[in-house]
Amino acid sequence: MRRAIYPGSFDPVTFGHIDMIERSAKIVDELVVAILNNSAKNPLFSVEERVSMLKEITNHVPNVKIQFFDGLLIDYAKKIEATIIIRGLRAVTDFEYELQIAQTNRIVNSEIDTIFLTTSLEYAYLSSTIVKEVASYGGDISHFVPEQLIPQIYEKYKI
Ligand code: PNS
Repeated sequence: MRRAIYPGSFDPVTFGHIDMIERSAKIVDELVVAILNNSAKNPLFSVEERVSMLKEITNHVPNVKIQFFDGLLIDYAKKIEATIIIRGLRAVTDFEYELQIAQTNRIVNSEIDTIFLTTSLEYAYLSSTIVKEVASYGGDISHFVPEQLIPQIYEKYKI
């Protein structure tokens, strides 16, 4: 069975992430969406909230599991017996950092490969940071995140 891991902060999950999840789930047997549980990043949403949001918006994809992890991604990928790491590339600016991480991970464990998918053009500009910025001013975030998540996001900013 080919198991892949799609790691990220997902703080919050966006249409760009959902596009990546739907597309990568089609090319593997099982896709584990792995949320980094890193309090040093001072996330807007707790890991439990992010798990719950991701479960809600991926329940139409049968071969997807939502989990969270601490520590190094490559160690967690090995632990869950994933052989592929999926990452999205939005623009050239993502490339240098992603390349460095992928090379590092491969040095640590050469059994696990990183596969990059280019994000769909319509989401190439989108990031969780942009969603938070717009939401913090009470702006319209309906182009960026699923409808059902909007109240939870505004609530964080008391909007
Ligand atoms: O959605 P993000 O914030 O771009 O995701 C980044 C993530 C979680 C994939 C990355 O920060 C990560 O893998 N962190 C875990 C620690 C690790 O393994 N770092 C890379 C090796 S130096």
